Amino acid sequence: MADETNPPAPAPIAPPAAAAARPAPRPAAPAQPDLAGRTTSAMARKEAPAPAAASAREADDTSPLLTRRAWMGLAWGAFSAASAAALAATGRFMFPNVLNEPPQQFKAGFPNEYGMGVDERWKEKFGIWLVRTPEDVDLHASGFFALISVCTHLGCTPNFLSAENKFKCPCHGSGFRTSGVNFEGPAPRPLERARIVLADDGQILVDRSRHFQRELAQWTDPEAFLRA
Ligand code: FES
Repeated sequence: MADETNPPAPAPIAPPAAAAARPAPRPAAPAQPDLAGRTTSAMARKEAPAPAAASAREADDTSPLLTRRAWMGLAWGAFSAASAAALAATGRFMFPNVLNEPPQQFKAGFPNEYGMGVDERWKEKFGIWLVRTPEDVDLHASGFFALISVCTHLGCTPNFLSAENKFKCPCHGSGFRTSGVNFEGPAPRPLERARIVLADDGQILVDRSRHFQRELAQWTDPEAFLRA
């Protein structure tokens, strides 16, 4: 006899035949390391967007390193630099070297401002020693002469040694008397003298542009010695 309070459990429903026949999904492909050592799946590789740089290249750009725009930038930069260098060279050519030499002529004051002997006040600025002597070595007269402070050996500047009353060249040891005559060392001839005259206003005028050499008998020239 059947139990009416406990009805029988329903029979399990069988799956449809089509669902049962569907093949199981394939497992995902294993991750593959790329050349840089990163691992990406096949799906990721497939869906990764193209690099921005590559999209910026123009279609006819065949350079593997730079875009055509980069090459144009480099070319313009090189052209601008070359133009600037050429312009600078032209500008330098337009302004030649200027040799700032001291003036060749100068007024050295009045004769009564000087005592006997070597005066060095004009050596630094004009390269001249003004010498007042009671008796010149050639003219045997009293007066002034202007010695040029350039050694006649190789062109160094001698010093005046007041204790020894002589000029001494520091380069190779040439010595000159206060007259300018050489007497020791390798200097082959006396110091040169510059033109010296009296200006209209009564001052001593020295002109370095005109030289007088004793070995050429020029120290007796009227403008090589100022009688006073
Ligand atoms: S340059 Fe004066 S001694 Fe040589």
